[in-house]
Amino acid sequence: MSIEKGREITISVLKFNPRSKVSKPHFVDYKLEETPGMTLFIALMKIREEYDPDLSFDFVCRAGICGSCGMVVNGKPVLACRALIANYPEGKLQLMPMPAFELIKDLSVNTGKWMDAMSVKVKSWIVTNKETDISKIEDKVEPEVADEVFELDRCIECGICVASCATKLMRPDFVGAVGLNRIARFEVDPHDNRTAEDFYELVGDDDGIFGCMSLMACEDHCPKHLPLQNKIAYLRRKLVALR
Ligand code: SF4
Ligand code: FES
Repeated sequence: MSIEKGREITISVLKFNPRSKVSKPHFVDYKLEETPGMTLFIALMKIREEYDPDLSFDFVCRAGICGSCGMVVNGKPVLACRALIANYPEGKLQLMPMPAFELIKDLSVNTGKWMDAMSVKVKSWIVTNKETDISKIEDKVEPEVADEVFELDRCIECGICVASCATKLMRPDFVGAVGLNRIARFEVDPHDNRTAEDFYELVGDDDGIFGCMSLMACEDHCPKHLPLQNKIAYLRRKLVALR
């Protein structure tokens, strides 16, 4: 019985170690056989196991949940664990690290450091003067309000919206769609007592809500399909009235 061979694919990876004095950015091509249902995660693991143990990239969950495997594939940022090789009919994939984040090595970038700084900048937590009494029943929240909070809370902090964003590449301190989505999430949450003026203090400038040029690449690429543009437009309308 003959076993059908998969097609040969070429994965071209930008390799660079910014901490090495001798390393220079360069592409390395790896040729491998596609297997049924192969994702980019599987292909990269195969490359690392069989050809290049030095290749750096990040994965944790392999299920589109942890947000650690963002990379640029043929010019578009995607989650590598959700990228099916079959969706690249030409069989050639060029991989680069996501821009806008500190490069660790090869395809590995430090999104966590950027997300931490953004969280502090937009005060990404419930702000309230109310004392919590844990002996009492929790305040009721209307189901449709809770649904809206949960919807915006689905962000996995992958950084793909940031890597897709031309404004972010021009304005290093821009909080990105992920930061503005955080503001929208707390703005809708009845547990948070901040006013529109308070949110204006945080993002009422060109590094926040007025920096977005509505190019919409954030929403086009967000793997969780968050309604980023709607929320940014809503916040902008709300905060522009305070100018
Ligand atoms: S908003 Fe979407 S693209 Fe941006 S970090 Fe969250 S899940 Fe990723
Ligand atoms: S490995 Fe967790 S989102 Fe891809």
